[in-house]
Amino acid sequence: MTKIGNIELGEFPLLLAPMEDVSDPPFRHVCKEQGADMLYTEFVSSEGLIRDAAKSIKKLDIFEHERPIGIQLFGSSIESMREAAIIAEKANPNLIDINYGCPVKQVACKGAGAALLQDIPKMVQMTSEIVKAVSLPVTVKTRLGWDDSTKNVMEVAERLQDIGISALTIHGRTRKQMYKGPADWRLIGDIKNNQRIKIPIFGNGDVSSPAVAEDMRNRYGVDGVMIGRASIGYPWIFREIKQYFKTGEIIAPPTLEERISVCRTHLVKSVEWKGERLGILEMRKHYGSYFKGMDNFKDFRMKLVTSDSYAQILETLEDIGRVYSEVA
Ligand SMILES: Cc1cc2nc3c(=O)[nH]c(=O)nc-3n(C[C@H](O)[C@H](O)[C@H](O)COP(=O)(O)O)c2cc1C
Repeated sequence: MTKIGNIELGEFPLLLAPMEDVSDPPFRHVCKEQGADMLYTEFVSSEGLIRDAAKSIKKLDIFEHERPIGIQLFGSSIESMREAAIIAEKANPNLIDINYGCPVKQVACKGAGAALLQDIPKMVQMTSEIVKAVSLPVTVKTRLGWDDSTKNVMEVAERLQDIGISALTIHGRTRKQMYKGPADWRLIGDIKNNQRIKIPIFGNGDVSSPAVAEDMRNRYGVDGVMIGRASIGYPWIFREIKQYFKTGEIIAPPTLEERISVCRTHLVKSVEWKGERLGILEMRKHYGSYFKGMDNFKDFRMKLVTSDSYAQILETLEDIGRVYSEVA
């Protein structure tokens, strides 16, 4: 049984990765339905939160059916992060997660996200202030290090465990790599095997199938895996891995009917949460992934991503079902 603080996550939990502009409540809803064991919000700017910025406040929206869920924060100022953690705690998540991994310039070059990997004393102090400021478990998500010559995540793991974090997720790349090259899980395995480390260690990076998840579990002994990109347009990845671990069976991929139904739910939840105009707009980036690999799909895709009418999009989804079942 894997536990973060006293949050019970079962055997080898599958965590949905925090993903900016992706892992909002509608997306989390469909991933939860397909078996994700733990959810995270998109990262929330601590500066935005303490200044009451609407975008950051909106990201604190969490729902009962999503539990257990963590709110993820990023920032470069220790005081702002501490204050933001207190604000986030009031939204009543199950835990607070700190982002020390974001590689993008707008974050890492402003001293936040992965930048903290270049200043471990500051990272330790920031984390410690947050742990002391809230009563919820505090977890951390980070990378192997800043670049190839500074892979310091072992030191990070030991020092952050010592000041009281409840779990650590490690993405097997450096900041410099961004998303290039395959994720390297060897150091993640070394941390898991370090006798001093008692907190759960979750591995992250390139888990894209039941076989990969099994390989990572068996080779590196991690307590669970976090899945990001493979779930976009394919939340079934969670149920596939779960079923495989339970029975050894590779279940059939979703039928077209299921794809349409889950995509429809995602759209409906999006409109419910963001309102019709924004819900429709923000859903546009997902259609390509839901219907990846379908022959002659271009016209339908164009309709889905250009229409401003909710009724028309719902009708297009029905048409897809009809047309493709006639072809089959
Ligand atoms: C679109 C996108 C947005 C992301 N946003 C965040 C974020 O807000 N917080 C975070 O910790 N990581 C973020 N990440 C990184 C992912 O959580 C994850 O670490 C990374 O994608 C590697 O896992 P994967 O190979 O399963 O996708 C993001 C990744 C993507 C692709």
